[in-house]
Amino acid sequence: MDQAEQLRNIIKKQNKKQHLARVITVTSGKGGVGKSNVSVNLAIQLSRLNKRVIILDADFGLANVEVMLGIRPQYSLADMMFRGKELKDIISPGPERIGFISGGSGLRELTNLDRDQIQSLVSMMYALDNLADVVIIDTGAGISNTVIDLVLASSEVLLVATPEPTSITDAYALLKTLCRHEEFYQNMVRIHMIANRAKGYGEGKELYDKLGSVVEKFLQLEMDYLGYIPYDDKLPKSVMRQKPVTVAYPDAVSSRAMLELAMVLENGKGNYENIRNRGLSGLFAKMFHSK
Ligand SMILES: Nc1ncnc2c1ncn2[C@@H]1O[C@H](COP(=O)(O)OP(=O)(O)O)[C@@H](O)[C@H]1O
Ligand SMILES: [Mg+2]
Repeated sequence: MDQAEQLRNIIKKQNKKQHLARVITVTSGKGGVGKSNVSVNLAIQLSRLNKRVIILDADFGLANVEVMLGIRPQYSLADMMFRGKELKDIISPGPERIGFISGGSGLRELTNLDRDQIQSLVSMMYALDNLADVVIIDTGAGISNTVIDLVLASSEVLLVATPEPTSITDAYALLKTLCRHEEFYQNMVRIHMIANRAKGYGEGKELYDKLGSVVEKFLQLEMDYLGYIPYDDKLPKSVMRQKPVTVAYPDAVSSRAMLELAMVLENGKGNYENIRNRGLSGLFAKMFHSK
């Protein structure tokens, strides 16, 4: 039995009895388009809809989510994987009952794992799958290898774009890189798009129509539209206050838009039967068996 097969067997066995979290990886072509704000506020709104939500910060650059939440976690994912910390040590409580895990340099340290280490990582992620209904992974900008690996292993991806031309071309470049990757299978992943900082419904929809149609035509890739978030000056204000906008200004237009997006994700077209949810354990198993 080779390593991949062994892993698949473990997963098959575990899947029968385990609860698997729905994992949503938030990404974009360009930085500064609102990924971290979308991750945090969507998490809060999903929590208000009674989902157990954990954010995994995989943006190693600026530790955005930490700054946004005003939380400085003592330990990161890497401390659990390599330094004997337990799951409960690395989850920090955030607002509205959300949990927060800092990726630290964890994912980068994971390049040369042996079989036992991969298995232990996957079992740790099973424990996490049990604790959450939804895990939101916030990624850094651009087309780095870690981001591509994460996105390739995810069963659901949330692509954030804004109406600026560079955001659109960079989003297209990211999707093109994905599609050309030998590990990419269209029927294994669902891609949702959010139009952020749109002037209104019309501009958001126009952005989706533009990007969605070139993506379909040139990459034969299906991408659905989750909705838009309007430009809202309460949002930068809340960032300054180190509070998520949905907490600082729950009635702001952006907060209400995030609630709507959370509802669409939960009840609407966001919830696909045909894409198999593999949980966080499945994500990591997939990410490492391909290496
Ligand atoms: N809907 C919005 N309205 C107004 N400003 C926004 C909106 N979304 C994001 N911003 C601004 O963009 C900045 C970058 O957002 P952030 O979530 O950190 O982006 P990313 O994680 O993609 O780099 C925020 O600090 C905020 O000032
Ligand atoms: Mg960010």
